[in-house]
Amino acid sequence: MHTETRKSRATESLEMPEESTTTAPNQPWRLCVAPMMEWTDRHCRYFHRLLAPRARLYSEMVVAQAAIFGDRRRLLGFDTAEHPVALQLGGSDPALLAQAARIGAEFGYDEINLNCGCPSDRVQAGRFGACLMTEPMLVADCVAAMRAVVALPVTVKCRLGVDDFDDEPFFRAFVDTVASAGCKVFVVHARKAWLKGLSPKENREIPPLDYARVFALKRDRPELTVVLNGGLMDQAAIDAVLAQVDGVMLGRLAYHDPYALARIHGELFDTPVPSREAVLAALRPYIDAHLGGGGELKHIARHILGLYQGQPGARQFRRELSSARPGSGLRGWDRALAAVEHWRAAA
Ligand SMILES: Cc1cc2nc3c(=O)[nH]c(=O)nc-3n(C[C@H](O)[C@H](O)[C@H](O)COP(=O)(O)O)c2cc1C
Repeated sequence: MHTETRKSRATESLEMPEESTTTAPNQPWRLCVAPMMEWTDRHCRYFHRLLAPRARLYSEMVVAQAAIFGDRRRLLGFDTAEHPVALQLGGSDPALLAQAARIGAEFGYDEINLNCGCPSDRVQAGRFGACLMTEPMLVADCVAAMRAVVALPVTVKCRLGVDDFDDEPFFRAFVDTVASAGCKVFVVHARKAWLKGLSPKENREIPPLDYARVFALKRDRPELTVVLNGGLMDQAAIDAVLAQVDGVMLGRLAYHDPYALARIHGELFDTPVPSREAVLAALRPYIDAHLGGGGELKHIARHILGLYQGQPGARQFRRELSSARPGSGLRGWDRALAAVEHWRAAA
């Protein structure tokens, strides 16, 4: 079997960590995986947990009303192995957010994070996401209302600004106002958002990144935990950022190249990096249970397609996994694994 070695310490077998095998107490935000709608659902997070036992995982954004009035088990349910896991909420009504935060706490989440960074039209219509950056007092009220009802950290994910409100005094006033309500952790996507004219995707690419402003925030507000997000693509960049702030949050890299997440985790926590095969083997019982509960392979498989990114057999793995027929159960899974084994043996 092939192994990926890091300092000759790759592991061949992998067990899911004990519940709450968490990050070192003083570094809970050192490595985070970003909230991503349609992507970081519970299956994705379970997979990421296998790759990165101490990373802090974030849910997709859940709108406060949905958490209160929707199908809670479907929207909020998660596996205990996912700890530490944060629930990201969207909303701007302090009472509703407080109710949703309480529900999140009852479900067992480790953190409630308020989305002040998403620029989509749908979110703007609901007066939340990035447009909330122009209403720091309201965000402070939301934070205070949530903190009043949960004992968990209530944190904020924001940008450097929105539209023409993006200078340093604006950004600092936002952070200081929200911090005064008891938010001690800021995840900063290190670019502004343009609320009109750019799609959410463009808003993750076009406004330039400016890490220096996030570093300056940490320098000037050392009492805050500052996590930098946006455009982190390799270990060198991550190391450079971690020399300045408390944590990094990875989004697209972790999703598209999940094994990079495992390698980065190994570097940051000096732990062995599991082989891809060990990760897949550890996932099998989870898939089996999901299928047994009436679920489909594709719900889980779609998050795993990038595991062999850049490796022999990557294309065959993706093809086999995505073409597994509904109802084929673990046979589709085993075929994909056999395909990649075949190609790797031939390589
Ligand atoms: C498909 C997708 C969905 C996203 N959904 C959310 C979301 O629900 N909440 C949020 O705060 N950010 C969301 N984001 C933004 C990411 O959390 C992150 O801030 C952004 O991708 C920049 O980080 P990256 O360069 O490491 O990908 C999403 C990003 C992507 C690609």
